[in-house]
Amino acid sequence: MNLRDFQKYINQELTEFYDKNEIQGFSAIIVEDILGLRRMDLHVKPEMEIESVKISKIQEIIRDLKLYKPIQYLIGKAWFYDLPFMVNENVLIPRPETEELVDWIIKKFNAENSKFSILDIGTGSGCIPVSIARNCKSAQVFALDISEKALEVAQHNAESNAVNVHFIHSNILDEGKWEEIYAHCGRNLDAIVSNPPYIRESEKKLMHANVLENEPWLALFVSDKDPLLFYRKITQFARKYLKTGGALFFEINEKFGDETCRLLENEGFGEIELRKDLSNKNRMIFAVKK
Ligand SMILES: C[S@@+](CC[C@H](N)C(=O)[O-])C[C@H]1O[C@@H](n2cnc3c(N)ncnc32)[C@H](O)[C@@H]1O
Repeated sequence: MNLRDFQKYINQELTEFYDKNEIQGFSAIIVEDILGLRRMDLHVKPEMEIESVKISKIQEIIRDLKLYKPIQYLIGKAWFYDLPFMVNENVLIPRPETEELVDWIIKKFNAENSKFSILDIGTGSGCIPVSIARNCKSAQVFALDISEKALEVAQHNAESNAVNVHFIHSNILDEGKWEEIYAHCGRNLDAIVSNPPYIRESEKKLMHANVLENEPWLALFVSDKDPLLFYRKITQFARKYLKTGGALFFEINEKFGDETCRLLENEGFGEIELRKDLSNKNRMIFAVKK
């Protein structure tokens, strides 16, 4: 099989499952990550032969794509804020909305040009703390998750991206653990960020099968009875342990922008700013502890 045959093969196999742009995206990822070539080689070197071991790998990926498994899990890698992250079924695939939140944090702190310490709550792949540590050289970065398996992935990502992040295994919903978490952070927190589970159980029916069947439910869902559970607990944690004047950043469920702002106000936070993501949905909040 050469690159031209590969292009034909992937188009034929996936046409009834995905649209043209998605298939183009998959073939570019396979060319770069499995074949180690540039995506333009598809056009400039169509005669290039593919090694047989790689053909088997491609066949395996295409079989799994037909089952709507996310390509990032199939190749074990996702890009976030221009950095490579290992991903597997124990972590959420980092999303572009979260890149926007990280961009907000990095720009804010780099503009102030100050040293700061920050804790990421519910770190998953570690995409948030690793990107901050890479881009804010004087930041002291902490990250927490309830899932040990997620923390293993996050630790790997900190090492492969050559940054120092202090990881903490804990449950943010358990107030009895808060003092210990704070101690792990050296009793000094200038900022807290979190993209906690925020999809209500009732929203499952609106979700694509590829997310629902493959990504970890622990990372995604919260009960309909208390959709702001994580936001309330994290805000209370921040109320107690964040420095006065310290910053709190949240990624949020687009349906709960106003409620989350009110919650922050009631817990004594000010300078509250709600921002939309690139799809024009209320997606992130910044607030300052008064
Ligand atoms: C929406 S994912 C976010 C992952 C990553 N920060 C990102 O933006 O891609 C939420 C994360 O919170 C973690 N989590 C769920 N419940 C938790 C709890 N009670 N305490 C700490 N972390 C929790 C999950 O394991 C998951 O990694």
